[in-house]
Amino acid sequence: MSELQSLDKAPEDVETDDCLSSYTYLYNPTLLQGRMAFLTGGGSGIGFRIAEIFMRHGCDTVIVGRNLQRVTEAAEKLRAATGRRCLALSADVRQPQSLIDAVEEALKTFSRIDILVNNAAGNFLCPASSLSFNAFKVVLDIDTMGTFNASKILFDRFFRDNGGVIINISATLSYKGQVLQVHAGSAKAAIDAMTKHLAVEWGPSRVRVNSLAPGPISGTEGMRRLGGAAAEAAGMWNNIPLQRAGNKTEVAHGALFLASPLASYVTGTTLVMDGGSWMTSPNHLTASLDLWSSEMKKSK
Ligand code: NAP
Ligand code: COA
Repeated sequence: MSELQSLDKAPEDVETDDCLSSYTYLYNPTLLQGRMAFLTGGGSGIGFRIAEIFMRHGCDTVIVGRNLQRVTEAAEKLRAATGRRCLALSADVRQPQSLIDAVEEALKTFSRIDILVNNAAGNFLCPASSLSFNAFKVVLDIDTMGTFNASKILFDRFFRDNGGVIINISATLSYKGQVLQVHAGSAKAAIDAMTKHLAVEWGPSRVRVNSLAPGPISGTEGMRRLGGAAAEAAGMWNNIPLQRAGNKTEVAHGALFLASPLASYVTGTTLVMDGGSWMTSPNHLTASLDLWSSEMKKSK
């Protein structure tokens, strides 16, 4: 056997919202030197790790969430681990004015924004028949409206004149009509459509717009909420072509590629990072309803 590691080996990660204890560079550490990224939902999970990996490659960041204490603590960890600047701001992506204020604050501090990562989202398992009108709307408001709001504000305030990169974190839920996910699947499908529309309209302004669609990612709120532990216990990862869940660092590496000049001719597309999961994972209503009912009983 060769001493080389296999080409699908997962990089280092930690399950909690903490920085990596060790990191092996795959790309040049100066890949994003001098750049600034604005990340919604950067205080936890996938958004936190994207911020960390960007910062490890020379980028400064602004991380935004509703909970100021959470983003403030996250920013402290990110600064300590990477030595880069990170500003924590509170904003609700559903409220354009709160995002405008955050973007103004970011520009006052850093004088530029090169990269927008639309990562903030809300999700839970729920059959369509049990979903309230407001529950459906809330998820579309956070995911879809939030993505449009932040993209339009950044375009107006900076990207139109200076160019930039937008990365929209979406999902594969709509590809096969995932059960118990009509709200998030619809929201993310709209985001993937938005990616193409904005790529076409804003390409001439040197703005690249792409989606990144993760599959099941360990150590995340998404995984916890969407039955990840039960899926793992039931041996469901064997249904995934690459036979495992992904990790946050892997997703962050995809975002790093899309943000960087390595993707200089990539726009209007979706990078699916799911180990091939959406093609082979089960999508059965009865089994999923059983799981949902037992989770509901536990939470009562
Ligand atoms: P997470 O840790 O819950 O991340 C969501 C973040 O969004 C939180 O930091 C949250 O912070 C913020 N947020 C939520 N509503 C907001 C709002 N209205 N305004 C501003 N910020 C808001 O979840 P995650 O699992 O890492 O998911 C990150 C992204 O990956 C999401 O887009 C998700 O749909 C996508 N994704 C995840 C998986 C997975 O397996 N985890 C799979 C596919 C796609 P506050 O609560 O402080 O606002
Ligand atoms: N199942 C069904 N409906 C639910 C639900 C669940 N698990 N959780 C919330 N809802 C419904 C509420 O009942 C409410 O509907 P109603 O007014 O008809 O009763 C509606 O959704 C909005 O809930 P609310 O708690 O007022 O919304 P919020 O704006 O405070 O929070 C959520 C938004 C619900 C998406 C919340 O879970 C959240 O903030 N999530 C962010 C983190 C996250 O989801 N991470 C995973 C990303 S993959």
